Amino acid sequence: MRSESSALPRRLLVTGGAGFIGSNFVHYWCNAYPNDRVVVLDALTYAGNKRNLAALDRQENFRFVQGDICDRALIDQLLQTENIDTIAHFAAESHVDRSILGPAAFVQTNIVGTFTLLEAFRQYWEPKKTANYCFLHVSTDEVYGSLSPSDPAFTETTPYAPNSPYSASKAGSDHLVRAYYHTYGLPTLITNCSNNYGPYQFPEKLIPLMCINSLIGKQLPVYGDGQNVRDWLYVGDHCSAIDVVIHRGVAGETYNIGGNNEVKNIDLVQMLCQLMDELAPQLPVRPCDKLITFVKDRPGHDRRYAINSTKIKTQLSWTPTVDIQTGLRQTVEWYLTHRDWWEPLLSKEYQEYYRQVYTQTSEL
Ligand code: NAD
Ligand code: TYD
Repeated sequence: MRSESSALPRRLLVTGGAGFIGSNFVHYWCNAYPNDRVVVLDALTYAGNKRNLAALDRQENFRFVQGDICDRALIDQLLQTENIDTIAHFAAESHVDRSILGPAAFVQTNIVGTFTLLEAFRQYWEPKKTANYCFLHVSTDEVYGSLSPSDPAFTETTPYAPNSPYSASKAGSDHLVRAYYHTYGLPTLITNCSNNYGPYQFPEKLIPLMCINSLIGKQLPVYGDGQNVRDWLYVGDHCSAIDVVIHRGVAGETYNIGGNNEVKNIDLVQMLCQLMDELAPQLPVRPCDKLITFVKDRPGHDRRYAINSTKIKTQLSWTPTVDIQTGLRQTVEWYLTHRDWWEPLLSKEYQEYYRQVYTQTSEL
């Protein structure tokens, strides 16, 4: 892969660039590499939000295209007309609870969509085989399955054992990406990261859900016994990791990206409640932890995820910089000051989704 300092601007196609991580990445990249061209392809599903990219609208090197990664003709056309050399592939159905309610969309976007992109990129790349091209596939630690409290953290060689329709569809897409490197020599890279948090995360995920529910005085639903563990990665750290993988990663390799912040769900929710009590002057219910409600567990709920990031640290000199206390405080402050961003997302569709998940997981 080409190094950061070596000359020519890149031309990126960022799929899913209007979603949570994708939009953070687009802002990160446009700021770090203003001479690079960034084309976002996003279907604007319920999780995509064009407002996440509003600040870039007038920038010459930025373009937004609304479209589906399963639309082969559109992808062919974008690769050719935009002379793309780098695909950063974020687009996915990304929420485990939605995959339990309706797995079909996960198979379609995550597997068929990734296949469509790979095929298009292969046929575009094969006649030229230019050295600096790359296809970076953003995946998850959930493909490795569930750990017990004493198991060592996931490494790049941990066998795949996905447990939800979401993680199974991501595992399927990872296998396709791997196969395109081994079979066709397509310059692919895979990253498997842990749970992200930060600005622009859709309200249905744990951290924004707890922030928003506290602000509107709704119960804070903790699944099961609240002892499940996640390794939290601040989204800005994830973006810098993808940067080093695109610039310095070795084609065909996988890199695990973790935040080094393993926390039990109940402890995380308590930390959020304390931050809310401190930072939000007009909470409907105070202290905020009065709203914590243990609800029926998510089916097939993985007990623990933990990432061993030694490979990316030692081989590519990347390390996370944001600890959980700092990152959570920044995130809570962001949700407190961006009510105009999240309030419109609590739409009828969202209320219906909420009703379905939280009636199935009603109070114990
Ligand atoms: P997100 O749900 O916030 O955003 C996904 C984006 O993809 C949305 O903008 C949506 O409109 C778009 N999209 C969905 N289907 C599409 C399609 N068929 N064609 C084009 N665009 C489509 O997700 P996120 O949290 O930003 O996750 C981004 C990527 O990172 C995903 O691949 C996810 O699996 C992976 N990941 C996320 C996390 C996390 O904690 N959020 C952790 C590990 C890995
Ligand atoms: P989530 O943000 O959905 O991410 P993932 O399932 O991909 O890890 O959930 C993070 C953890 O929080 C997970 O263990 C499930 C739990 N959780 C709750 O306890 N209550 C909730 O309402 C939600 C959305 C998640």
